[in-house]
Amino acid sequence: MQFSFNSHPAAQIDSPALVTYVFEKDNRIEGSLAQLDQATGGRLKRLADCGELTGKTLEATMLHDPPGLAAGRLLLVGAGKPEKFDGTILRRVAGMALRLLRAKSVTRMTFLLREGERNAEGAEAAVEGLLLASFESDFYKTEKKNGKAMEAAALAGAEGASTAEIERGMARGRVIGEAQNFTRTLANEPSNRLTPRMLADRGEEMAREAGLAVDVLDEKRIAELKMGALLSVAQGSSEPPRVIVVTYTPAHPASGGTGAPVLGLVGKAVTFDTGGISIKPSEGMEKMKYDMAGGAAMLGVMKALAALKPAVKVVAVIPSTENMPGGKAQKPGDVQFAMSGKSIEVINTDAEGRLILADGIAYAKKLGCTHLVDAATLTGAIVVALSHINTGVFTNNPGFQEQVLASARRAGEKMWPMPLDDDYRELIKSTIADIQNIAGAGRGGGASVGAAFLREFTDETPWVHLDIAGTAWLDEQKPWAAKGPTGIAVRTLVDLAMSFS
Ligand code: BES
Ligand code: ZN
Ligand code: ZN
Repeated sequence: MQFSFNSHPAAQIDSPALVTYVFEKDNRIEGSLAQLDQATGGRLKRLADCGELTGKTLEATMLHDPPGLAAGRLLLVGAGKPEKFDGTILRRVAGMALRLLRAKSVTRMTFLLREGERNAEGAEAAVEGLLLASFESDFYKTEKKNGKAMEAAALAGAEGASTAEIERGMARGRVIGEAQNFTRTLANEPSNRLTPRMLADRGEEMAREAGLAVDVLDEKRIAELKMGALLSVAQGSSEPPRVIVVTYTPAHPASGGTGAPVLGLVGKAVTFDTGGISIKPSEGMEKMKYDMAGGAAMLGVMKALAALKPAVKVVAVIPSTENMPGGKAQKPGDVQFAMSGKSIEVINTDAEGRLILADGIAYAKKLGCTHLVDAATLTGAIVVALSHINTGVFTNNPGFQEQVLASARRAGEKMWPMPLDDDYRELIKSTIADIQNIAGAGRGGGASVGAAFLREFTDETPWVHLDIAGTAWLDEQKPWAAKGPTGIAVRTLVDLAMSFS
């Protein structure tokens, strides 16, 4: 999709579709809408008076060949109550408009920002919304059914804003939207088309194009590093594991020397999770191709950071494997030694994400990371707690957690703090080893238990764990988004890295 900025007054914009948004309030036809109303000889006012144009969230009203306007269509999208309007709603409004127009094979559109959003943030959110809405999951359909692609989108609404500021916001929105779609592309791939080796190739390719340093550990180096927890998961598969390490080093660090922070991003990348010997039921198992969404998110973040250039060093560590049953697979009760030296009794081979992250976290620390965030489709229990609405956020450091939550709010990704006090450690005590990988039957709190296991490998390093099992995949399409991978956590972690500088 081509993006541009159109500085003409709205009535003169010559586009197949001019799009703007309407608030739900008594004087709906105000500001830039009043100008459009005047140009069209009072059509908008009449639509509002007869109750057809209410401003209710995502209500769509389309006028064809609107008199007085150069545009072929005027699409008005409801934006809800003005006091609830934010970047999230702006993204959705822009996204819904794109999908609605695309379904009608309209290939060019102009999105008119209204008074409050004529700034870098508004432009960024609109471009993100358009890019995210353009994503489709139908990669392998031989006949595409979603209309023609949107070829070009312009933003308009210049009055009172500097074009340079809006263009800066658009450029940032483009970087972040494309990075999030890159993550979604990876998460959408079926496991036969994205094995750990292929994921490493895709990560290498992205890093090369973006100018980032990349190091892929193969099974030999993984063994040399004694990553016994990762290897125990991988041993059941004929596909060898990989650890993908992508590093961004700032040209101008905010603070140099030994005290400078290094942000470590550890992402779970199980390219398929059958559960192993503790095998999952077949119903819904096909969805376990997205069990690498945490790793894919970290690759998306790195892609964006290469362009946005924060003043902090960021290292992504992505352990990747399949989790398969088989003659060589690990079995319940097996004891493994993680890279950190801790022994683990593997009670359930389906709690494999925490095993591979244990070694990913240890390796990120070894590489000098001073702050850690992991993202993982870790537990079904987080869906019980938070549904598919919020990402669960766990920590060993409340200050750092608040920093991540603040980034999530700015980025418009819903995240919610979850408890992880010391008492949860009791639940993973093992008789035979240092810890076990799940709690005993009936103990509950599965998401916190998973987090408690990970905490064992962080020591004192400030760490935040994002359980994205419920939020990385959309089971039903939304007016602004296709069904499928969401790319959750990319925007939050990009904001976090930027806020470090
Ligand atoms: N990959 C799953 C978690 C998951 C569930 C992701 C649903 C996405 C949607 C994870 O490896 C897993 O199987 N967790 C187990 C842990 C249990 C054995 C303690 C679970 O949640 O059932
Ligand atoms: Zn599992
Ligand atoms: Zn898993």
